[in-house]
Amino acid sequence: MLHSSSTSTVDQVSGTRVERLVEGAGLGLRRSLLEPLADLTCDDVQFMEVAPENWIRLGGRMGKQFRQYTERFPFVCHGLSLSIGSTDPLDMKLLADIKVFMQDHNILHYTEHLSYCSDQGHLYDLMPIPFTEEAVQHVAGRIRQVQDVLGQRISMENVSYYCAPQQEMTEIEFINAVIAEADCDLLLDVNNIYVNSINHHYDAMDFLKQLPAERATYVHVAGHYDEATDLRVDTHGADVIDPVWKILEAAYQHFGAMPTLLERDFNIPPVAELLSEVQTIRDIQARYARSDRQASPQQALIV
Ligand SMILES: [Fe+2]
Repeated sequence: MLHSSSTSTVDQVSGTRVERLVEGAGLGLRRSLLEPLADLTCDDVQFMEVAPENWIRLGGRMGKQFRQYTERFPFVCHGLSLSIGSTDPLDMKLLADIKVFMQDHNILHYTEHLSYCSDQGHLYDLMPIPFTEEAVQHVAGRIRQVQDVLGQRISMENVSYYCAPQQEMTEIEFINAVIAEADCDLLLDVNNIYVNSINHHYDAMDFLKQLPAERATYVHVAGHYDEATDLRVDTHGADVIDPVWKILEAAYQHFGAMPTLLERDFNIPPVAELLSEVQTIRDIQARYARSDRQASPQQALIV
């Protein structure tokens, strides 16, 4: 079965070419969505994303249902617990399991958060890495190690954070330094840019334009929670709000339309409402499609 073909895009400023293994508009798959989304086709959603930790070694009925999805849709992995920024040893067992899981399901790409979630034990939250040169070198080395094991480039996501320990450099300088030093790709989350811009008092559009979009494999868009006028919490539990759609649109305007995935993890609405937000992504993509996107040599995956 023809699974996917990749495309590549040339960045207008740097001339760098990034390979995009997915296209169009995507949706995060959770176990609770297996039944409700059973009739979906690639006309509705062009790719899907899963947290591998929630699906590795899943057997029985759910395992069979999951395989029906991975046979029908191009998939990417969005890791939750590799804890790339931690000083704990890298979890090589988890990494090996992820590699097998990706091979077993023909999953195209692996992404993780630019944060950490363990410190001699699991912290059950995504913690911010200090924005220091020492941390850049540490994290970049671990990303290179992951890329070596998986045998492919991975994408690191710009995360939301609520306190910023040790800032020798700004957040944007830190992200750009890690990506350059690790020679990895970017998972661009526009909701996280919005949330951080409110919580840390910076201009979201300025931040966006400084990101290395030529390295962006795809984009995340999501809803969040308004805790206070100056505090937003990244929950993935609400509809996407207009200011976040505007950042997504600005990203396309500035860098060209990019594959984009809707993250919805809590307060999940009826399928029709989820698909309506996915359709909004496609509508915005259609307005900013560039003619410079061209098909690369076919990368057909036969399953
Ligand atoms: Fe995200």
